[in-house]
Amino acid sequence: MSDNYTCAKTADERPNLYYPITNPNTGEEIWPKRTRVWGFDVAAHRRHVSESMIYWGKDGKNSVPRLKKFLLHLRSDGRVPSTIWTYDEVGHNQDAKREQQVLNPGDPFPTPTPERLIHRILQIATQPDDIVLDSFAGSGTTGAVAHKMGRRWIMVELGEHCHTHIIPRLKKVIDGEDKGGISEVVSWNGGGGFRYYHLAPSLLEKDQWGNWVINKAYNPAMLAQAVCKLEGFTYAPSDAVYWQQGHSTERDFIYVTTQNLSHDQLQVLSDEAGEGRSLLVMCSAFRGKPDKYPNLTVKKIPKTVLTRCEWDHDDYSLKIENLPKAPAPPGQQGLEFS
Ligand SMILES: C[S@@+](CC[C@H](N)C(=O)[O-])C[C@H]1O[C@@H](n2cnc3c(N)ncnc32)[C@H](O)[C@@H]1O
Repeated sequence: MSDNYTCAKTADERPNLYYPITNPNTGEEIWPKRTRVWGFDVAAHRRHVSESMIYWGKDGKNSVPRLKKFLLHLRSDGRVPSTIWTYDEVGHNQDAKREQQVLNPGDPFPTPTPERLIHRILQIATQPDDIVLDSFAGSGTTGAVAHKMGRRWIMVELGEHCHTHIIPRLKKVIDGEDKGGISEVVSWNGGGGFRYYHLAPSLLEKDQWGNWVINKAYNPAMLAQAVCKLEGFTYAPSDAVYWQQGHSTERDFIYVTTQNLSHDQLQVLSDEAGEGRSLLVMCSAFRGKPDKYPNLTVKKIPKTVLTRCEWDHDDYSLKIENLPKAPAPPGQQGLEFS
């Protein structure tokens, strides 16, 4: 399928659409009529050429180019998307506000996008199972619509409305409680799920002398969490046993400490871990031969972290003992987060 490459404008009206195009097969230079210029400016035309979107006829010798159209770009009703989208097709701000009133009656998001608008965009630009990224999630319309359309999605939001609007909204979508927006059009009844991740601040920051130090916002628990991640352990600090900060199996644990461990300290850890359990000890440094303890693996915290930090420069309180459990951020209990 292909589409006309011209539009009903004159060269006087749209001088930027009046320029020559060369047929690469014949070398012929083609000008549009002054009364009906090209439908695309030079930059768009170059992009079409680079994407092989220009059709020059079966033998490649047509004197007027056409734009290739692919089935996947058709709307679900079989029509090609048009350039002008009217509000009765894709909704408007008032629709979006009404959608918000239903989703969040007490505190509707002030500047929402109508679901139908995002529906149209995703129909054109994506296929089921594609990943849709909205790095400025706002009220979460893009994620909600992508979810209902069977697309996967990633949303990023720095505002508190992530917790007050987006997460509750997506929970309603998943539970099939959101009957508004495009739910009826796409026969949405609920399903699926999502994960919530909280982005931590950077582990390292420069101090007043320009040296890399551990960010003061970090506490020992966060450092242990980061090292668990690096080593492939699940961070799950025990309230009772200080050296059980995470595990990889029921009997394999990890202990992270910024101390320089002596032989005696390693021996205590080995004794406490006992037979039948193994322990990965991550520390700044250690003395003695680590292979002396059959149930311990002793490693230094990665140089990428340690060498760039002035551990003793300030009181960073990084001696890790009896770590508290990392509390879930407000409003996310029951959600998976890390
Ligand atoms: C107009 S809303 C976006 C609407 C949304 N894309 C939709 O589907 O309706 C813009 C959002 O971007 C968020 N934002 C701004 N800067 C950001 C950043 N650096 N990282 C994440 N979110 C950001 C704002 O808090 C606001 O909620």
